Amino acid sequence: MVKVLFVCLGNICRSPTADGVFRKLLVDQDLTDRIEVDSCGTGDWHIGKAPDQRAQAAASERGYDLSVLRARTVHIGDFEQFDFILAMDESNLKDLQDMVPLHLHGKTRLFLEYAPSSGLTAVPDPYYDGADGFEHVLDLVEEACDGLLEDIKQNTLK
Ligand code: 4NP
Repeated sequence: MVKVLFVCLGNICRSPTADGVFRKLLVDQDLTDRIEVDSCGTGDWHIGKAPDQRAQAAASERGYDLSVLRARTVHIGDFEQFDFILAMDESNLKDLQDMVPLHLHGKTRLFLEYAPSSGLTAVPDPYYDGADGFEHVLDLVEEACDGLLEDIKQNTLK
């Protein structure tokens, strides 16, 4: 099993969106028995909460159901358990890398490395923005999820 963990700050906007989009790709391509997905946050304000209503609404418009997801924080054990630990921005990445010794940093990277044509390194935090911010998150997440799945198929699943 290849295990993918998406990480943002609150685990109610960006990483649950990535979780829902990637999960649907896995279902559609019949890969749920080979690739597993989860999401979490570096901050603890929203533990146990469902994704932000605006994130759920924007995702639902594109056919993704985020309603079953619940926020949790990242744990040390995640670094052993997951193969890909993908941060939404540089601050999330630094917080992750500060938690663990250097030999585990290789599992962590910026999610948008898988969306090179976006020209961005970070998925902008939409929490304090309007609805447009959530559409932009979805655009970036959809592109990066496609790139990530192609990468896993070519390099990890054999
Ligand atoms: P996320 O967005 O990291 O994409 O889930 C945020 C959600 C909540 C907060 C910040 C960012 N907050 O400060 O509560």
